[in-house]
Amino acid sequence: MEKTKVIIVSEVSIDGKLTIAKGISSKELMSLMDEDANKYLHQIRDICDGILVGAETIRTDNPSLTVRYVEGKNPIRIIPTNSLNLGENRSIFDTSKAKTIIVTSKKAYEEKKDVVNKLLEKNIEILICGEDKVDFQKMLKELYKKGIKSLMVEGGAKINWEFIKNDLVDEIHLIVVPVIVGGEDVPTLVGGEGFKTLENLKKFKVKDTFKLGNQIINIFTKL
Ligand SMILES: NC(=O)c1ccc[n+]([C@@H]2O[C@H](COP(=O)([O-])OP(=O)(O)OC[C@H]3O[C@@H](n4cnc5c(N)ncnc54)[C@H](OP(=O)(O)O)[C@@H]3O)[C@@H](O)[C@H]2O)c1
Repeated sequence: MEKTKVIIVSEVSIDGKLTIAKGISSKELMSLMDEDANKYLHQIRDICDGILVGAETIRTDNPSLTVRYVEGKNPIRIIPTNSLNLGENRSIFDTSKAKTIIVTSKKAYEEKKDVVNKLLEKNIEILICGEDKVDFQKMLKELYKKGIKSLMVEGGAKINWEFIKNDLVDEIHLIVVPVIVGGEDVPTLVGGEGFKTLENLKKFKVKDTFKLGNQIINIFTKL
């Protein structure tokens, strides 16, 4: 059966951190990326039909998730959330250049009708997938029906875990910035409970690795 191709793309430090401190926007780490790396990231945005980040990334980073470093089209922005609390004046609420779909559970949709109405007024589409939390497998099927056949997932750690745990990831691109962040509580590429035993680890194969400007690009694909 045809399914949406899912590509995780993340900027990480040498020690696999997604940001420089817990609760801090990853835009600070990204400010260390050179033009080559930014172009690489935005080229993938351009070729994907959709781009997805977690609601916490919307709250801390307020990203626009558009294509700017290369000529190209903006992917549809997709944000899963149970709280429906994304804050005010977010860049993704500006739908003049790119469409935004908020994915939530039936429970949250019914309990937060006032928030739902405000989002609809902003021309944002709401997709209900799952009873009391978003069912990611169901979400991908619904997105495929909407024509989203390739999806770039740009984190954060909790969202990456949801995709990895459900075996939904086809490819991972790491843009490794040559700095070390340290810190036990700083989010790394994948959060969640972890797989804990050797046989349960999620296994990938190495597709490519190369130097790009002052970064290393590592590409892994599903076994
Ligand atoms: N370096 C990079 O490439 C990169 C990229 C992105 C983000 N980041 C950084 O990563 C950090 C944020 O990561 P994070 O792990 O804390 O959060 P996150 O993955 O961005 O978002 C987590 C949120 O997603 C929603 N969510 C997750 N699973 C869900 C489910 N099954 N159903 C419904 N909603 C679900 C929840 O939103 P609600 O709480 O609203 O329900 C949850 O709180 C920030 O510091 C950010 O700067 C780095």
